[in-house]
Amino acid sequence: DYIWFEIKGKTFTDHDGETKALLISRDISQRKKLQEKLLSINEKLEEKVQERTSELKETQERLIRQEKLAALGKLSGSVSHDLRNPLNVINSSIFFLKMKLADASEKIKKHLGIIENEVHAAKRIIEDLLDSARIEKPAFTKINANDIIKESLQAIEIPPGIKLKKTLCPSPCIAMADKVQMRRVLVNLIINAIDAMGESGTLEVHCRLVDAKRVVESNKKTIAIDISDTGHGIGDEVLPHIFEPLYTTKKKGLGLGLPIVQEIVERHGGEIKVFTNQQGTKFTVLIPSK
Ligand SMILES: Nc1ncnc2c1ncn2[C@@H]1O[C@H](COP(=O)(O)OP(=O)(O)OP(=O)(O)O)[C@@H](O)[C@H]1O
Ligand SMILES: [Mg+2]
Repeated sequence: DYIWFEIKGKTFTDHDGETKALLISRDISQRKKLQEKLLSINEKLEEKVQERTSELKETQERLIRQEKLAALGKLSGSVSHDLRNPLNVINSSIFFLKMKLADASEKIKKHLGIIENEVHAAKRIIEDLLDSARIEKPAFTKINANDIIKESLQAIEIPPGIKLKKTLCPSPCIAMADKVQMRRVLVNLIINAIDAMGESGTLEVHCRLVDAKRVVESNKKTIAIDISDTGHGIGDEVLPHIFEPLYTTKKKGLGLGLPIVQEIVERHGGEIKVFTNQQGTKFTVLIPSK
């Protein structure tokens, strides 16, 4: 270690008229050390502030997302409720007319049939609307992630030009989770992947057990499910918004898929990660194993 000195000096003329110099040196090692300490404390403090700020931002974004989802759920709930009544009235009137007009012309019967079908279609739309914005409290049961993957893939029609690569977990992948909600997570991610590829590409679903950082029960493994595609990727201007409710870049999208996926995964004590570039995108769902 060096010893640090501060040297001050001045020149003066003594009684004999000679010019002399006076130098005073002082050991400032202690001060230097303190300064360095202060600097490193400052740096650490800055890091902490940045950490906290980003935590706060995440919390804020989560709150906004939850609030928007809740508002959407409420709105769709009340719209559905209000629409269901008139539709039921139309339905009973059709029933009545069909009885009264049992021997009416084919044309009249055809039109009654059309009205009946359309009322059905409208009711389905209402159910879908209700389903799409509502997330029930998860009903936790013991599930095997491999089964959920298989069931989700069965529920989706994969275009013929898209190759599926499925790698299931070799060891049991058991979690406490809501089966229906976890399927919803995977189905949404797989549909997004297919949408990004269009006619052709490779869809990869990969399930594995990993050692991920876990606050509680750190000795337990985490189930990681990767859904990767070879689609167009997510641009820098789109990426910050993908988890916002109602954000979509698709003509027929609602922009509800990913916010719901994130909400469900978080309710399962898990998290979701995105990796993307121009060659494609990978979403990783992490949930605690049992
Ligand atoms: N695998 C992916 N590749 C490229 N872009 C994606 C991918 N997944 C999501 N995105 C982008 O994120 C946006 C939001 O996705 P999200 O699933 O929330 O809504 P959506 O698919 O547009 O509509 P919805 O899911 O409600 O039908 C998409 O519009 C798309 O721009
Ligand atoms: Mg989607």
